[in-house]
Amino acid sequence: MTLDIEALSIRFEERLRQVAVADSPFVTEAASHLIAAGGKRFRPQLVYLASGFGGEVDEEQLLKAALVMELTHVASLYHDDVMDEADVRRSAPSANSRWGNSIAILIGDYLFAKASILVADLGADYVRLQAETFTRLVQGQIAETRGPGTGEAPLEHYLQVIADKTGSLIAASALFGAMIAGAPQSIREALAAYGEEIGLVFQLSDDIIDITSDVTGKTPGTDLREGVPTLPTLLLEASRDPADQPLKDLLAGDLSDDAALAEALAVLRAHPVVEKARAEVCRHADLARQHLAPLPEGDAKQLLLQVCDDLVKRSA
Ligand code: FPP
Ligand code: MG
Repeated sequence: MTLDIEALSIRFEERLRQVAVADSPFVTEAASHLIAAGGKRFRPQLVYLASGFGGEVDEEQLLKAALVMELTHVASLYHDDVMDEADVRRSAPSANSRWGNSIAILIGDYLFAKASILVADLGADYVRLQAETFTRLVQGQIAETRGPGTGEAPLEHYLQVIADKTGSLIAASALFGAMIAGAPQSIREALAAYGEEIGLVFQLSDDIIDITSDVTGKTPGTDLREGVPTLPTLLLEASRDPADQPLKDLLAGDLSDDAALAEALAVLRAHPVVEKARAEVCRHADLARQHLAPLPEGDAKQLLLQVCDDLVKRSA
């Protein structure tokens, strides 16, 4: 069936605003903060598109599924900015920089609880999937924080981290859409595999633009400053070229000073590892496209293919 995604998106925004309303004006303000600051609404869009491969769709159920995914995502951003000590998110001051870490964490919990209320309306299968997804998300974040264990290859560790912290929720969004539409199992599996793969594409490109872009609405170089390994820095670490040593030393040093961070960013931006990382984005986008091959032709499939192109362009 054909969905009017624009009309749905308008209703979604209205509902998202309402969900943040709490018993006190302060909690409403703090919970609305990141929601009102914007965002791509990537996960809700995926819920809508994936619902195009089944039967009749109940719009209220679809909206609830989209809200659950976005609320879970926004809740995790409140927590993530505390962990990353980030000052800016979606071009607005982060909640932690405005109200401190404790409030930011509690608002994340509040929004996650709101997602739980909505997912309960959808039924036990949805609750289970959301909870399983959340266990992966949290474990991915813990693994990132702890770093690779002894004997664990840093690159494999990183890929597992981004699959868990980002791929899991994006895969669940595609699966939620397919479930709402009552799509057959084979289609659900294809869409979940596609979601998992574009989740990787999404996070790989996000990590590249943390280095290359000044217009992300976040502070460029946050990962470098926090010492969070990403594909470009892991590729650099793996290089045996002695000419790369000064940059490795620069990145290993103290980047808390803005001038030091700006210098590290400038040198890294010009380094071939950024192009190599972009090639990996393209490779994973191709894998995502392959998961769509068994799906019936039509507008929904074309739009999901378009998502792959758009994500590749994001970090190109
Ligand atoms: C963004 O990573 C962060 C995530 C994808 C997930 C973070 C998850 C948690 C902190 C657990 C949340 C727990 C609850 C209870 C809500 P990033 O730092 O690479 O992305 P960024 O550049 O957008 O900051
Ligand atoms: Mg972060």
